[in-house]
Amino acid sequence: MQPVSLTALWTAAQRARESARPDRLLDDTLAGTLAGPEGARMMEIMDSGQQPSPTVAIRSRYFDDRLIARTSDGARQIVLVGAGMDSRAFRLGLAADVTVFEIDQPDLLALKDQRLARAGARPTCVRRVVACDLDGAWADALRASGFSTSEQSVFVAEGLLMYLDEAGVERLLGDLSRLASPGSSLLADVCGQSFRDSPYMTAWFAAMERAGMAWRFGTDEPEALLAPHGWRADVVRYGDEGAHFGRWTGPRVDRHDLAWPHSYLVDARRLEE
Ligand SMILES: C[S@@+](CC[C@H](N)C(=O)[O-])C[C@H]1O[C@@H](n2cnc3c(N)ncnc32)[C@H](O)[C@@H]1O
Repeated sequence: MQPVSLTALWTAAQRARESARPDRLLDDTLAGTLAGPEGARMMEIMDSGQQPSPTVAIRSRYFDDRLIARTSDGARQIVLVGAGMDSRAFRLGLAADVTVFEIDQPDLLALKDQRLARAGARPTCVRRVVACDLDGAWADALRASGFSTSEQSVFVAEGLLMYLDEAGVERLLGDLSRLASPGSSLLADVCGQSFRDSPYMTAWFAAMERAGMAWRFGTDEPEALLAPHGWRADVVRYGDEGAHFGRWTGPRVDRHDLAWPHSYLVDARRLEE
C-alpha cells in the first residue's frame, strides 16, 4: 500500500476514538475495525504524548451534517474522493436510493472491503467502489460505475487536497467541475499556506515527509481557488460558529492574521455555466 493510503487508517483511528467519547460528535462503529492495529499505532505515534486534536472529529461532523441536509434536499449521489476508510455508506442511515461512490487507491479499497466483510457490515444505501489513482482516468471509471452527470451530487474531498501538489489539485477541481451538475456541492477541508509555513508545524511536516506522506498543498484563499472552476464557496475555520461543537480549544484569531496557522472547511456550490 502507498504510504499516503496509510493516512486513511490514522483518520479512521481518530474517528474510533471520537466514537468512544460520551460527548462524541459522531458514532462510527466500524472505524476501529477499519483502522486496524496499524491505524491505532499511527495515531499513538502522531499524538506523541500531546493532547489529541479534535480536528478530524469536527471536520467529519461538519461534513456529516451537510451531507444529511443535501440528501434531504434531494441529492442522490455522494462521491467520496479519496474515500479512505470512510464508513458513511454504513453509518449515516442514507436512504436506499442514494448511491455512495468511493474513489481511492486499489490496495486501500481492497483492504477496506476485507475488513468490512469480516465485520459483516451492510450499507444502508447503494455503495460503489471505484478503485483508481486520482492521477489517472478516474472520472471515466466513476461514470462507468454508474455516476450520472445530470443528477445533483455531493462530492467530498476530506483529508485529501493537502496530499496532492498544486497541479494535482487544479486537475482534480477541473475534473470535478465537469462532473458536477449546477447546484451540486463540494465539501472539502483545505490546509492554509499559513499552516504550512507555521514554525510550530515544521517538525511535524518534516516527519510526515520522511514517512512518505508529505503535505504538498495549502492556500489561505479557498474561495479564490474554487471560483475559477465554477464553484461558490462558503468557508469557515475550525472554531468558527458552526465548526466549534464545544470542542475547539484554539484561540480566536482574525482570518487575515496569517502569522497564525489557519485551516478551512469548505461547503461549495456548483454554479450554472
Ligand atoms: C487522510 S486520508 C483521508 C481518507 C478519508 N477521506 C478520511 O477523511 O478519513 C487520504 C486518502 O486519500 C487517498 N489518496 C491520496 N492521493 C490519492 C491519489 N492520487 N489517488 C487516489 N487516492 C488518493 C489516500 O489513499 C487516502 O485514503
